[in-house]
Amino acid sequence: MDRRDFIQQLPKAELHLHIEGSLEPAMMFDLARRNGVELPYADVAEVRTAYEFAGLQDFLDLYYAGMGVLRTASDFFALADACFRRVGADNVTHLECFVDPQAHLGRGVRFEDLMQGLDAAVRQAAGRGLEVSLILCFLRHLSEREAFGALEDAAPYQGNFIGVGLDSSELGHPPGKFRNVFAAARDLGFRLTAHAGEEGPAEYVWEALDVLGVERIDHGNRALEDDALVARLRRDQVPLTLCPLSNLKLRVVPDLRAHPLKRMLDLGLLATVNSDDPAYFGGYVNDNYVRAAAALDLGEAELAALAANSFKAAFRAGDDSAG
Ligand code: HPA
Ligand code: ZN
Repeated sequence: MDRRDFIQQLPKAELHLHIEGSLEPAMMFDLARRNGVELPYADVAEVRTAYEFAGLQDFLDLYYAGMGVLRTASDFFALADACFRRVGADNVTHLECFVDPQAHLGRGVRFEDLMQGLDAAVRQAAGRGLEVSLILCFLRHLSEREAFGALEDAAPYQGNFIGVGLDSSELGHPPGKFRNVFAAARDLGFRLTAHAGEEGPAEYVWEALDVLGVERIDHGNRALEDDALVARLRRDQVPLTLCPLSNLKLRVVPDLRAHPLKRMLDLGLLATVNSDDPAYFGGYVNDNYVRAAAALDLGEAELAALAANSFKAAFRAGDDSAG
């Protein structure tokens, strides 16, 4: 069986995908027209050309600008429905999907409209055999007080969220800045995860674990710089949600052959493969598996282990035997 077919037939969980990062350029243009929003691009080709990033912040500037076309419940439904159909086509049976409410509320979108659109798409996905849980991400470039505001706004919709996460500009915004709001979220019953060690140092991964008490680390690439941290991640089998194509596009790695995925597997870490922002980074989860496998020469046993890891790492037990 060729490698792509082998990857396709593996049931998988996707644990690191930002719904706003699935906004494809064609939909960006449709929604801009519908909502009377000006885009700084003439056409889809020009958007694609703009997607050359010097690093995380460079990407985030376009990511926040792009999502400005999302205004109504039906916009959020269209976004999520297209995303979930695409995710399901890769034989993903379980998706834990990040949402950035603060990025929408801050520009006048109502929480109610955001949730109405997303929830309708989640229900339709379930009917097609894709189980979706949402994770509310706090924007780390904003204050902890603002994160508390988002948590309070989300209270009427708590049943729609399985957990909270932490994303946006990492450097200069260590996890410890959000210790109180993570403690409050945990008391409310949310599961906890955080982006750490993408551009930030290994110290941020320690903080996410020991100060925030997260169960999972999103990215975690730079953990390999610290042997004691590697020992901790191995001992506790802390899941790492790696995103190879994201790391390539955001210059976290110079080349996929330098990606830490294989080293992490060899070290006994619970590594998983995910897509992060597929519309911006050039691929959904199977593309991430295929490109990483080619660059790192991963065999079928390693690919099957990665798919099995994705279910072990999930907050909600998925069914990896359904096919
Ligand atoms: N890192 C941090 N914040 C993000 C990312 C990411 O890769 N994608 C969307 N928000
Ligand atoms: Zn991410």
